Amino acid sequence: MKPTVVLAEAMLPNRQKLSLRRHDGHYHIRVGGELLMSTTATASEAQMAELAHAAFGAGAGQRVLIGGFGFGFTLRRMLELVGPDVHVQVAELLPQIVEWNRVHLASVNGQLLDDPRVEVLLGDVFAVLGSAAPASYDAVLLDVDNGPEALVDARNERLYADVGLAALSRALKPGGRAVFWSAGTDDRFLRRLKRAGFQAEALWAKAYPQAQVKTHTLFVADWPRRERPHSPE
Ligand SMILES: C[S@@+](CC[C@H](N)C(=O)[O-])C[C@H]1O[C@@H](n2cnc3c(N)ncnc32)[C@H](O)[C@@H]1O
Repeated sequence: MKPTVVLAEAMLPNRQKLSLRRHDGHYHIRVGGELLMSTTATASEAQMAELAHAAFGAGAGQRVLIGGFGFGFTLRRMLELVGPDVHVQVAELLPQIVEWNRVHLASVNGQLLDDPRVEVLLGDVFAVLGSAAPASYDAVLLDVDNGPEALVDARNERLYADVGLAALSRALKPGGRAVFWSAGTDDRFLRRLKRAGFQAEALWAKAYPQAQVKTHTLFVADWPRRERPHSPE
């Protein structure tokens, strides 16, 4: 049997243990024994960046916010797609994630944290959105939890709630796009996005390129170019 190597461990403020492990060439992060993320299935994370980038208008100097870093596959794809003058902020709640990526995962995506286009913000992306100047971002990519209805961290509920969507719409430029990652689909969240004034759709996405079925959902939410009254759709 192939061994599992524990590379790092930390105790979170809620007394749950966070651990980084390597097994059979892949990396896994667990919280309190539950799998939080791994490097085995990253296609939908990369697709988030492709969908966000597709909405960029002509011109340069776009500003992007990604929350959170994880293993950096969303950031990697975004940096592959954009030019040298794009500014990408990455908000990551857990300092250990950033440190472990730098120390243990430099050859995965950790070295991207030092890309001159990247600014790392340690903290909650909800707070980053809330304090952003209006119309700050061309794109906001949110992959912080399992989705609107399957939360690992209950505090993330507000990101998917009306209060989070209001902060998001304020922080997006007219014509800007948000992409939410979710483990499953959720019609209620789609309706909430539309009620909040977004033009929104839910797309199925593959967990890994060779997957036969699409198991993840990406919610794509466009903020209109001209603000329009919120519809009760
Ligand atoms: C599933 S991972 C993201 C995976 C990432 N898309 C990738 O390509 O590897 C979720 C990340 O979000 C972070 N996170 C959770 N809640 C957060 C929040 N409210 N603000 C910022 N980061 C958060 C977690 O610590 C974790 O690093």
